[in-house]
Amino acid sequence: MIKKISVDELAPGMEIVQLSADVWHQLPYLYAKPGIIKDEAEIRRIRAKGFLQTFIRLAPSPENEGLSDEERPEKLVNIREGDPRRKPRKPFAQTIENARKAYTEALAQTKRIINDVKMGRQVDYISSAAALEGVIETAMQNSDTIICLSKLSRYDSYTYSHSINVAAISVVFGEYIGLSRAELTTLGVAGMMHDLGKTAISNRIINKRGRLTRSEFEQIKKHPVYGLNILQKSDDIPMSVLRAVEEHHEKYNGTGYPHGLTKDDISVFGRILSMADVYDALTSDRSYKHAILPNKALAIMYGMRDQDFCAREVQMFIKCLGIFPSGSLVRLNTGDYGVVFESNPEKPLLPKIKVILDEDLHPIPAQLVDLAIPDNGNALKIMECADPAQHKVNLRPYFIAHKDLPQQEEKG
Ligand SMILES: [Fe+2]
Repeated sequence: MIKKISVDELAPGMEIVQLSADVWHQLPYLYAKPGIIKDEAEIRRIRAKGFLQTFIRLAPSPENEGLSDEERPEKLVNIREGDPRRKPRKPFAQTIENARKAYTEALAQTKRIINDVKMGRQVDYISSAAALEGVIETAMQNSDTIICLSKLSRYDSYTYSHSINVAAISVVFGEYIGLSRAELTTLGVAGMMHDLGKTAISNRIINKRGRLTRSEFEQIKKHPVYGLNILQKSDDIPMSVLRAVEEHHEKYNGTGYPHGLTKDDISVFGRILSMADVYDALTSDRSYKHAILPNKALAIMYGMRDQDFCAREVQMFIKCLGIFPSGSLVRLNTGDYGVVFESNPEKPLLPKIKVILDEDLHPIPAQLVDLAIPDNGNALKIMECADPAQHKVNLRPYFIAHKDLPQQEEKG
């Protein structure tokens, strides 16, 4: 099990973990060289170089022994007391088409807003809220469709997709914890607009692939306040949106920016955006890095509890998205591969899947199986998540008809 800690907590013998999360290797304050810490002198050197945090592997304990990082969130969500309510949902197949339209409409609005800001125009709150109605509607009917689209959504450049993914994931989580319809709208708009301040920062820094210098990172750290300044030029942006945008990089333990707020001093919307932002950044496939599998990303986020996130809230987030979020490719006990269509909040290991590939990764006629029904024929079980990129599997056609696929592009 991994855990994010302050370098002040480092001790000889601890193992620094190699994370495949390139998104953090850019950060100047995260120590990420894998290996065992030899002695105090090494810790002093790490501290002297100005590193502040690192990820370590926790020694096995009776509580977590024998469990892989992928299994731990499952244990975690199973021990949670009392589930937030989850309304009856419409079947995935009846909702996916509306979800796709809603996602596309919200994406178009995101582009308009970013363009407006670049042109010096005010942000249009009313039309942004209206463009999110479809996303909220489908999140309430069947949140799997929206999560699935956000996972498959190399629809456009990362900037646009990421904004709308953060909005969609935040709304799904907000619906899960019982926010009102009006709150979901403001939360969604906050997600859509959370990184608007990046338009005020040089593209050279925003798109830099290597580690940022400290002064470059100081520039990046200004984007929440820049975003706030941009939004304050419009009269009708709700205070909850302004706060969420300003606070989406604050961290539970006070090490975030711009203000170093802690715990409940960070608004609820700010805390939700922060989790959605990290989850989408980890699981998005950009031209220079591969996406981390959803279950791995959730395990990493669990390792950030008490540091970046409130432990209870990140547990709820994991529970909401499920161990195998829809859109995940999974390997089955038969050797065949399936894609997760509908998560099962009560039984996270038993979602509805579509079996699509045989053990040699050859396509087979798609067969929908509900793993929660004991009598599903073959007692199918999920063995592990598989990486679509590694296996060169394109999952998009299984969710969306070919003719509807928008052009893919990547502008960074
Ligand atoms: Fe941001």
